[in-house]
Amino acid sequence: MADHFRALVIEDRDGKPVGGFKNLTFADLPDHDVLVEVQFSTLNYKDGLAVSGKGRIARRLPMVAGVDLAGIVVESRNPDWKPGDKVAVNGWGMSETEWGGYTRFQRLKPEWLTRLPDAFSLEQSMAIGTAGYTAALAIHALELWGKIKTGEVLVTGAAGGVGSVAITLLARRGYKVTASTGRPQTHDYLASLGATGFVDRTELSEKGGALQKERWAGAIDSVGSTTLANILAQTIQSGAVAACGLAGGADLPATVMPHILRGVALLGINSVTAPHSERDKAWAILSESLDLNHLTAMTTVEPLSNLPQLAQDIVAGKIRGRVVIDVAK
Ligand SMILES: NC(=O)c1ccc[n+]([C@@H]2O[C@H](COP(=O)([O-])OP(=O)(O)OC[C@H]3O[C@@H](n4cnc5c(N)ncnc54)[C@H](OP(=O)(O)O)[C@@H]3O)[C@@H](O)[C@H]2O)c1
Repeated sequence: MADHFRALVIEDRDGKPVGGFKNLTFADLPDHDVLVEVQFSTLNYKDGLAVSGKGRIARRLPMVAGVDLAGIVVESRNPDWKPGDKVAVNGWGMSETEWGGYTRFQRLKPEWLTRLPDAFSLEQSMAIGTAGYTAALAIHALELWGKIKTGEVLVTGAAGGVGSVAITLLARRGYKVTASTGRPQTHDYLASLGATGFVDRTELSEKGGALQKERWAGAIDSVGSTTLANILAQTIQSGAVAACGLAGGADLPATVMPHILRGVALLGINSVTAPHSERDKAWAILSESLDLNHLTAMTTVEPLSNLPQLAQDIVAGKIRGRVVIDVAK
């Protein structure tokens, strides 16, 4: 093993969090029980905010960015893990309070590790990443709600990471999926994943009435703000909306009317600290319903060295589908 290795580290420069490449040694890593040789990480919206400096994601500095990683256990002081185990880590505060995945090696707490299902390689687990696993958590939440058997399910931010994985999973599970995107040029791509209807992003982002024409049996929303308020107002009696993102804004200018007159549920999705019981359900949904050809079609693999530009691109809404980061390059 090399005694030093490259990582993308967010540091304080003149009071601002700024990301850049640094060489780390093993002595720099946190004193956690499991040492993992990281092979792949990924790019999520939150990573874009952290690396571009457009959002204050890191709550302490210096911080190795990257909310996901996949790799092989090299050393373990914990009996549950042994050298050679294939593991993935999603969230658990990585890139916020804990050092994350944009590095060749990382030391991690044993309870953060997920044993990879046989269905997925390390690279595929990062093509899924937090975005894909969040899409699966959202589907799990909608299915637990249990009242969405028929009707249309809307996916917003459709051409992004959460959106792309949500569409292919929902379609495979037999739902009729409508995609909302601001990029009409992605309609063929979204149709290839299983979307059968399209709504322009602007139709949902204008302020609308408290109760609108009932349309959606369910929805998975990555956008928030007025878009989420409109979706709630358009959800049918006893439908549910899983809210997971804020790509359009963190506010929610909504009324209680859909909830008290139509029994609509707003289900919050938090991937970062989801307990293992929920994570296992999400990975089971992915193992059962993820079409690996669709996963390949929605994924590009990029070297770690391209991260600064990729971070700008995802925050600008220019990335389609998922990006795997090869941390060795
Ligand atoms: N709750 C959680 O635990 C959790 C986990 C993962 C992600 N998230 C959140 O979920 C969201 C999606 O994450 P992601 O990794 O899938 O990001 P992403 O790949 O960048 O996808 C976001 C999509 O939202 C749409 N969008 C971008 N800017 C917009 C705007 N101003 N107004 C309306 N739509 C806009 C775009 O889709 P179109 O071009 O198709 O319109 C974009 O592709 C982010 O807000 C992220 O922070 C939350």
